[in-house]
Amino acid sequence: MIKYDKTRDLAEKMDAEDPLKSFRSQFYIPKTKTGAPSIYFCGNSLGLMPKSAKTYTDEMFEDWAKLGVEGHTHARHPWLPYHEFLTRSMADVVGGKPSEVVVMNSLTVNLHLLMASFYRPTDDRNKILVEYSPFPSDRFAVRSQARWHGYDPDEVIIELRPDEGELVSREAILDIIRREGDGIALILIGGVNYYTGQAFDLAAITAAGHAKGCMVGFDLAHAAGNLQLDLHDAGVDFAAWCSYKYLNSGPGGLSGVFVHERHHGRKDIPRLEGWWGQDKETRFLMGPDFNPIPTAEAWQLSNPPILPMATLRASLDLFDAAGMPALRRKSEQLTGYLYYLLQSLPGDNIRVITPEDPSWRGCQLSLQVKNRDKAIYRYLTDHGVIADWREPDVIRIAPVPLYNNYTEVWDFVRLLEEAAGAAR
Ligand SMILES: Cc1ncc(COP(=O)(O)O)c(C=O)c1O
Repeated sequence: MIKYDKTRDLAEKMDAEDPLKSFRSQFYIPKTKTGAPSIYFCGNSLGLMPKSAKTYTDEMFEDWAKLGVEGHTHARHPWLPYHEFLTRSMADVVGGKPSEVVVMNSLTVNLHLLMASFYRPTDDRNKILVEYSPFPSDRFAVRSQARWHGYDPDEVIIELRPDEGELVSREAILDIIRREGDGIALILIGGVNYYTGQAFDLAAITAAGHAKGCMVGFDLAHAAGNLQLDLHDAGVDFAAWCSYKYLNSGPGGLSGVFVHERHHGRKDIPRLEGWWGQDKETRFLMGPDFNPIPTAEAWQLSNPPILPMATLRASLDLFDAAGMPALRRKSEQLTGYLYYLLQSLPGDNIRVITPEDPSWRGCQLSLQVKNRDKAIYRYLTDHGVIADWREPDVIRIAPVPLYNNYTEVWDFVRLLEEAAGAAR
């Protein structure tokens, strides 16, 4: 464990000794108006572009030009099974078996497809437990699912209540599952809350839910490629995540899905179906009967879109090379360093609402500004920081271990100090 101090020398020393430092040069870093690299702390929203992304997509364009439809089978990475080139790396990112993971569609679409299978309300058990202040799309998705099944969302959706400031303690979550679990059909929680940056204990929530007979799924939009996940061993029933944040697949990039192997091949789980979930041996016989692939691939509907898969493949190759354990180690230190430096800020117009303990957070720290004053955020953006503002009063800062470094963290805190001073 490094003993931090406030000198820039320490930041430079940590950068020099960083075993992952070479990865930064494999990304395009957006520039400021002066041409200097900006401090990009927005990987929690849109990850940076790997330089190799263009090479990987060019390959598809060249093969398409040369081969036309024959690219499905004869492209250098044939298009017909293209999603399979992503599976093992993606499974490593989330701690699933390859048979439990598939890349397809977008996140909200997949949440609906998974709820079609795993939210099976009955008169006695119809509730959905969601996190406190879920991302709007998750809220809309669960509410519309409740209505789809003929229930009033205000009656069946239970939202966790924060009991430690904006945060929800582990005890509060386990307690509500113990108390309400018999009526809960589905627990659907974000792995990391988009606003507070709080990470949840997936294994404990899953075990508590299962003890009460609930299905347990997670939206891992802010957790995949950020936390060290272990979905298979945690026993999670299902999960979905996007790939454009920490997984750098580009705007609107594809979503990953996890379905625990205990659910594969089950005939009692309904599924919305399409031809890409059909058994691969017989798919092109064009027969009338649906024989699902005996893996998570059964949930696929359509043939894979190669362009967004190519950009994702470029990024996943970097994840393979770096490895999640090393990335997480650096992330704990990088964000821990940010936390340390933030403690020394004078004044009281900024408060970190994300937990300090690394087991309760990922890369992101959420800085709540006093009086909802956006001036600090504007000062930062005017001075070359790319971060984001989330209404009503939070600046989200996410140093990402693949391409950010300690010196940027130091420079950012100095700018924040100036900004807070100017705003006082
Ligand atoms: C937690 C969470 N859920 C859902 C979404 C929606 O994702 P998509 O637009 O890819 O469906 C986002 C997007 O940022 C998100 O952060």
